[in-house]
Amino acid sequence: MENKLVIIYSSVDGQTLKISKVIKDVLDNQNQPVELYSIDDFDKDLKNYDKIVIGSSIRYGLHHKKIIEFINKHQQTLEARKSIFFSVNLVARKPEKSSPTTNTYVVKFFNSISWEPTLVEVFAGKIDYKKYTFFDRKMIQLIMWMTKGPTNKDAEIEYTNWDRVKAFGQKLIDL
Ligand SMILES: Cc1cc2nc3c(=O)[nH]c(=O)nc-3n(C[C@H](O)[C@H](O)[C@H](O)COP(=O)(O)O)c2cc1C
Repeated sequence: MENKLVIIYSSVDGQTLKISKVIKDVLDNQNQPVELYSIDDFDKDLKNYDKIVIGSSIRYGLHHKKIIEFINKHQQTLEARKSIFFSVNLVARKPEKSSPTTNTYVVKFFNSISWEPTLVEVFAGKIDYKKYTFFDRKMIQLIMWMTKGPTNKDAEIEYTNWDRVKAFGQKLIDL
């Protein structure tokens, strides 16, 4: 095997994709072979890769269904390689909920599946009310009101800590 890495992501409004691209840039800059696919387009054999990175955002408390199905289907292959997971959500904007062991979604997720990845990370996402449907906007405003976040209907705030994303990219090289 030749140290090939693949990033497979699921993203609705583009933030998980943006994070995946920044990770890819870090790897490209250090000549770590890397391929990037949306879960919807991935049709390669996972066995071609030495390191498999899976990224998903959270919607209404859950990672994307396709990602969960993919992990369950390929668990054996994932565990025979270096496998890595990262989650993107808004709760992670709070420092006390920003690590894989303190982010409720990540903790619950790994209690619900048996996959044991080599590395897990969580990143804060982005809020962009203008992109949401009426219903989604109302729901996110409610969640933000309950968690003392922004409720202004025009709010567009990127909480992602790019230094952390880049450090994660470096960790992938070092794995
Ligand atoms: C409809 C909807 C539901 C969401 N539900 C949650 C949630 O339950 N918890 C949370 O922390 N973030 C939630 N978010 C925030 C997203 O995880 C965040 O905006 C992330 O950056 C989205 O990434 P994406 O653009 O790659 O899909 C939600 C966002 C939307 C639009």
